[in-house]
Amino acid sequence: MMKIGMLTSGGDCQALNAAMRGVVKGLTTNVDELEIYGFENGYKGLIYEQYRILTASDFFSGILTRGGTIPGSSRQPFKQMRVPDENGLDKVEAMKSTYRKLGLDCLVILGGNGTQKTANLLREEGLNIIHLPKTIDNDIYGTDVTFGFQSAINIATETIDCIHTTAASHNRVFIVEVMGQHKVGWLTLYAGVAGGADIILLPEIPYDIDKVVDAIHKRTKDGKGFTILAVAEGAISKDDAQLTKKQYKAKVASRRYPSVSYEIADQIQEKCGVEVRVAVPGHTQRGGSPCPYDRVLCTRLGSAAAKAIMDGKFGCMIGMINNKTKCVPLGEVAGKLKTVDPDSQMIQGGKTDRYQFWRLNFLISGKKGEEKCLTRLYTVSSVRRNSKMSKDRNTLLQH
Ligand code: F6P
Repeated sequence: MMKIGMLTSGGDCQALNAAMRGVVKGLTTNVDELEIYGFENGYKGLIYEQYRILTASDFFSGILTRGGTIPGSSRQPFKQMRVPDENGLDKVEAMKSTYRKLGLDCLVILGGNGTQKTANLLREEGLNIIHLPKTIDNDIYGTDVTFGFQSAINIATETIDCIHTTAASHNRVFIVEVMGQHKVGWLTLYAGVAGGADIILLPEIPYDIDKVVDAIHKRTKDGKGFTILAVAEGAISKDDAQLTKKQYKAKVASRRYPSVSYEIADQIQEKCGVEVRVAVPGHTQRGGSPCPYDRVLCTRLGSAAAKAIMDGKFGCMIGMINNKTKCVPLGEVAGKLKTVDPDSQMIQGGKTDRYQFWRLNFLISGKKGEEKCLTRLYTVSSVRRNSKMSKDRNTLLQH
């Protein structure tokens, strides 16, 4: 009898169920006796022994298309894992004990960066772990793409499309604030380009508000009555990027705006004298049914996970690299962040293309040294790491 535990942790996204289904389908095809333990609400279920035995039929009754997550999810910060709970319970020991008590052969963990760090911790503690990279943020290092990302792009793009028509009718400036974690702008970049946003602001490239204003003026001069900005929830001005992490946190805490988009809207309104509206699709970006791309991706990642389990290959994330599934050692990727590289072809293409199909040029102040500020701000030197990524990727491909 093979016994597999599964949990989904952190913010949910589309295709979590599809990924679990992929694993179970892959296993049931090859294993005669299989027991699946679905831990409720992420690591919480593993800590407090809250689980449900799932049957194969749980996975074969239309869950490929169902959003959310059957066992539920919760945020259990990695930093708190070594801190005993309010009753003095050692969470790491509790998780190990649940795993051993149930006699699990492997624990399949679906989650983002924080979840992955805890997965790696459990690997270091001797458990058999497989991690599947989920998040709409696409910021997991060691995989080209995460599931949820493509579905979220579709939703954010549709929002921008809808805003387009109303913005044009009213000759307004609109800001669409896109999710995607506070340090990365993958979702904003892709939805912004796909939705034809006129200005795209990402955390990785601190913006200059005067350039934003110039761009709006230029559009007005060109006879365009409206402008659409796709702004990442973590977009940061070049002045704020000069602050230390502590100073920036204090600034955000005392900000009178609900988010950066409202601050930008006020600044544009003041400097341009035009009406600005903010639209925040928020958690809708994580909701609903997975798009076909994510369904295929999860079916492939899930069946690769099943193969890794059957081969006894544990301690890895199942990533997708160059359209091939790979077992990427957790120890090599946990704690690293995949950010948008300002030097990448996609950004540089937008900047130098003489037709400026997407106007990323407005985002880049052109002054050297900003990357340095960013690096300092995030302490994890994500920008430097990112430029290292292509080298690391070659290493990962060998696994
Ligand atoms: O990491 C996924 C994500 O949706 C981010 O894009 C966003 O910043 C965050 O989660 C929102 O968190 P919560 O669900 O706790 O509001």
